[in-house]
Amino acid sequence: MTKLTLNKRLLATGFAFIILCAGLIGFSPSKPSVANAATVTYTATANLNVRTGPSTANKIIATVKQGTKLTVTGKNENGWLKVSLNGQTGYVSGQYVKISNSSSSTATVTYTATANLNVRTGPSTANKIIATVKQGTKLTVTGKNENGWLKVSLNGQTGYVSGQYVKVSNPSSSTATVTYTATANLNVRTGPSTANKIIATVKQGTKLTVTGKNENGWLKVSLNGQTGYVSSQYVKVSNPSSDDIQVVAKPESIPVLVNKKNKLPENYVPKDLVYTSIPFTFKEKTEKRKMRSEAAAAISKLFAESKKQGVSLLGVSAYRSHATQVALFDYYVKRDGYAKAITYSALPGTSEHETGLAIDVTGGNGKCAAQDCFGGTKEAKWLQAHADDYGFIIRYPKGKESVTGYKYEPWHLRYVGKAIAQTIMSQGLTLEEYYYTRAVQN
Ligand code: DAL
Ligand code: ZN
Repeated sequence: MTKLTLNKRLLATGFAFIILCAGLIGFSPSKPSVANAATVTYTATANLNVRTGPSTANKIIATVKQGTKLTVTGKNENGWLKVSLNGQTGYVSGQYVKISNSSSSTATVTYTATANLNVRTGPSTANKIIATVKQGTKLTVTGKNENGWLKVSLNGQTGYVSGQYVKVSNPSSSTATVTYTATANLNVRTGPSTANKIIATVKQGTKLTVTGKNENGWLKVSLNGQTGYVSSQYVKVSNPSSDDIQVVAKPESIPVLVNKKNKLPENYVPKDLVYTSIPFTFKEKTEKRKMRSEAAAAISKLFAESKKQGVSLLGVSAYRSHATQVALFDYYVKRDGYAKAITYSALPGTSEHETGLAIDVTGGNGKCAAQDCFGGTKEAKWLQAHADDYGFIIRYPKGKESVTGYKYEPWHLRYVGKAIAQTIMSQGLTLEEYYYTRAVQN
């Protein structure tokens, strides 16, 4: 073992020890624990009590004004946040805060420059240019300010770029399918390197369905039903026409992307649909109460926890068979016309409700079910703040209409699993941006 490895090991052990001690000092056994998380800045949405512990039973140590920025270092199961305020630690209810669009975020996301791009010393064009990066350069983004400028880390240096000329890069774990075109005759191999056997050679101009990407730039492709790997050096993203709709390769995948460009295979019916145990706005035992088993368990937990916190919810519509979506879409087209209907209702085959992973919910009084007036309610705010803890995302966020293809739906929850949900909700993303496929326009 080299000295360096040894030092690294000692260092890692030391860190683990410090973290452990901090945990022991920070929490007495009588208090529910708050998991330490990366530091994220939140803004108080109302005047807000800061307490000595994570419940209203604890003493108020300060009241901060609406708009105050809070450095959040942890979160517990009941939605209480651990905050650092003027060097002191306190706890606030997660109901009256929202994530700030702040440059102090420590989460890193990779973006790709969509044009040659100036990197500056500060977040405006008034600042000095320190570098110009070429179109296609990957940038490690560590923060964002209100004007859309991004803080980037470039060769160890910090700089700022305008958010106008970057897009979120396609993460390697993507299950979304994207079409690429071969720019040369191209070998398809059994694995992601030239050491692997060639299984086919495709002609320049061939369209390839790409289902994954690794760090070295090799792409996983699906070719005539077979999986293979090609070097990304000889492909470009195809400019799909509006009628180019992919059939999703893995409809049963929990984080599956189903949208206007990615439809479910014909006759797809999820295999593990079960009746959810949550209350709905109606009494009948219909398919609308069903979800896939993992999502059904998660929605039960979400409802139970919201109830504990005094937020009462009702299900409106979960699973819809293809036939139901056909009838529903048809009804909307007759009522509002096709052009309007497609801004809020999915064409049959492209609705997440057909996956058994989506559910529309509303408040306990049943009013505003799947209506705009649900936005801004106590229940909608609770969902925005907590849905990710149960693996759900608000699938069609406000301001992302041009990405999702749908108007804001604060009631439409989509189960993607906790890890992805937390990434998406904490970074204000959509599932499209998470996968980075392509913007979906109406
Ligand atoms: N309202 C959503 C988009 C659906 O119909 O699935
Ligand atoms: Zn819905």
